[in-house]
Amino acid sequence: MREKLASAAAVLMLLLVSLCGQTLSCDPNAYLANGVCCLKCPPGHRVLSDCDLVTRRRCVPCLNGAFMDQLNGFSRCNLCKSCDPASGLRVKSFCTRVSNTFCEPLKTFVCTKAVGDDCVTAERRGPCRPGQYIKQKATGFDCSPCPAGTFSDGSFSACRLHTRCIRLNLPLLRRGTNSSDAFCGDPPQKRRDWTHALIWGVVSIVVALISAVSGYLIYRNRGFGSYGESAAGKILHKDKTDVFSDETGVAE
Ligand SMILES: *[C@@H]1O[C@H](CO)[C@@H](O)[C@H](O)[C@H]1NC(C)=O
Repeated sequence: MREKLASAAAVLMLLLVSLCGQTLSCDPNAYLANGVCCLKCPPGHRVLSDCDLVTRRRCVPCLNGAFMDQLNGFSRCNLCKSCDPASGLRVKSFCTRVSNTFCEPLKTFVCTKAVGDDCVTAERRGPCRPGQYIKQKATGFDCSPCPAGTFSDGSFSACRLHTRCIRLNLPLLRRGTNSSDAFCGDPPQKRRDWTHALIWGVVSIVVALISAVSGYLIYRNRGFGSYGESAAGKILHKDKTDVFSDETGVAE
């Protein structure tokens, strides 16, 4: 009877551990909803309704003017961006259900910030060459080179300082040149990792407490004997050697 109790406790513990493990993270093709891992929707689609223990998740295609470029568990597609001629941009490739619009600079503009193949900002092409700025004079202007640490695309009336990624706590992805700014990456994501570690810490403490208390109760009720040979006993011994070291010395 008590051995059954012991193995029941062990099974419960294992169940708890595996359950926690599952609810804390899904594999990369799935997302978490209502404590269940649902299969993600394919690119070009979004989630219409989440899955639960009995029903599959449902996906619908993005509508015109919206896109989704990845496997996802999102309930909305992203809106396609437009290329604004007033900002010197025109469409390079149109938005599809699986990719955003790509922009490029108008003929008289140069791209000043690009993300991959997409031009994000453009400026009017200057009368000077890239790396030079327009130095005004009483009569007309000169083209003068930019000093180190600054840049101009040839249209600036003064050279601009490179963005200091490190001072902004951002990783430097591309060094600035005399004709282009430095390019910073996204801020490092530390907080999520911390939350994960914290949750795991709490779960381990709870599991350790449950096993310690149930182990102690079983030992107290059972007295010493063949307990160490039951399946549950082995698991408890293995996990909690330090807690039970005194008793095991006597029992074995
Ligand atoms: C800008 O830098 C490039 C490469 O370092 C150099 O070849 C070019 O002469 C520079 N342009 C000006 C205007 O100083």
